[in-house]
Amino acid sequence: MSSPITKTDLEFLKRFSMLIGVLALMAVAFILLALYIYAKQPPAASPAADKVVADRLAPVGESYAGETGRAAMLAAEEARKKEAASRVAYGGTTDGKAIYDQLCSACHQSGAGGAPILTDKAAWAPRIAQGADTLIKHATEGYTGRAGIMPARGGNPSLNDEQVKASVLWMIDQVK
Ligand code: HEC
Repeated sequence: MSSPITKTDLEFLKRFSMLIGVLALMAVAFILLALYIYAKQPPAASPAADKVVADRLAPVGESYAGETGRAAMLAAEEARKKEAASRVAYGGTTDGKAIYDQLCSACHQSGAGGAPILTDKAAWAPRIAQGADTLIKHATEGYTGRAGIMPARGGNPSLNDEQVKASVLWMIDQVK
């Protein structure tokens, strides 16, 4: 029984599949070579990615140059306000009660250090008899009497004359 494939055809098929095989091997070799070269190559620089990195590295505030001046101005304004407020006690209020509540009451509410208590009319009567000017002077310059030590300006040197006067007058009003 003779094969339907002739000898020549068989030879052709043999060579042809060998050729296909070699080409396939070469294809694989080229793929591997390409991968190798690709791995060796530094990655291409992307301008978009570079910008993201640069933005992240930029110091805070510098990436918004337009806002920098405004932010500095606001900070300076804030610092100036704080500084001004700290130079004048209690925001410069001349509300005697406010000053008393925040400072004088520390002693004159409890009687700490022998301070005459604000509600003690008997303790205040002889003091008030000295006259408001003397009381203001004593409160401003400080005063050491038999009861104890009244510190100058209630112990807060940033309290100005007007504020001391206002608080003394307010206290006098309370014990009258
Ligand atoms: C650290 C405690 C203390 C604080 C704070 C204080 N005082 Fe006095 N104050 C005294 C004492 C103690 C006396 C009594 C002194 C004495 O007569 O021996 C006194 C007395 C006075 C007198 C009477 C002075 C006199 O001639 O009799 C006045 C007025 C007065 N204080 C006002 C104030 C005012 C206003 C403040 C707040 C700005 C203030 N004090 C804060 C302790 C204090």
